[in-house]
Amino acid sequence: MAKTTSALALAHALARRNPARRVLLIDLDSQRNATAIVLGTSDIPAERTVFSLFQGQPPRSELLFPTTLANLFFIPASLHLVEIEPQLSGALDGFFRLGDALQVLRREFSIILLDCPPSLSVVTINAMVAADYLLIPLQISKFSVDGIQTIRNAVDTVNRRYNATLKIAGGFLTLHDARTTLSQAMLPEIEKILPLFKTTIPRSVAVEEAHLLRQDIHDYAPHNKVAQAYAALAGELEVLIGDRV
Ligand SMILES: Nc1ncnc2c1ncn2[C@@H]1O[C@H](COP(=O)(O)OP(=O)(O)O)[C@@H](O)[C@H]1O
Ligand SMILES: [Mg+2]
Repeated sequence: MAKTTSALALAHALARRNPARRVLLIDLDSQRNATAIVLGTSDIPAERTVFSLFQGQPPRSELLFPTTLANLFFIPASLHLVEIEPQLSGALDGFFRLGDALQVLRREFSIILLDCPPSLSVVTINAMVAADYLLIPLQISKFSVDGIQTIRNAVDTVNRRYNATLKIAGGFLTLHDARTTLSQAMLPEIEKILPLFKTTIPRSVAVEEAHLLRQDIHDYAPHNKVAQAYAALAGELEVLIGDRV
């Protein structure tokens, strides 16, 4: 669904658009795709990853890995994130561990992006409890509408019980081909249940090529249509959340 691609590209675009703005990207997926792309390895000792935050430890400077951009930092994920699911489910503050850690990090960073795992796990719920906005990358298929409804229901529950601040910023179409009859037919259905950003992200082999070289799409091919689309999406997001330095 292009979650990781979008989190990486938006983090880079938001950092580039304002060098005074400090941006933090956090990998929350035990599959560690963002970690592999940003750091070149997914084997980071657990105590230097977001795992330590889920264990209730305070954020330390050695969690903040530098990137190719001076104002963009990165916290990697750990395979051990899988193990903490039962531990967090049994803890009274199990849904709040990430949010507690972000209270501290919010003082240091103007924008924090969370790259979520694919399922509605305890880690994902932590992200929804910690976040102000939810961005939903969408690929049009007959399953999209069901998936959006599931996410909406989860947001409603989180809003009622844990985090009244969380808002759906919107969905955006990725790997998009406007010409197909399926997208023509489905789009109005989706727009009825989810606000959509104007920008759509097209498909390009440059995305895969950039990731293989461990580069962001903006470094690898700045004039590529995908790089330009993510920059435009970052612009729309700035309008929505306010131009944060
Ligand atoms: N705009 C795009 N054009 C071409 N390939 C893309 C694009 N966006 C994502 N991909 C590819 O699709 C696959 C899934 O993307 P990824 O961002 O890892 O999704 P997720 O994090 O939701 O699992 C990856 O191989 C990625 O390179
Ligand atoms: Mg991913």
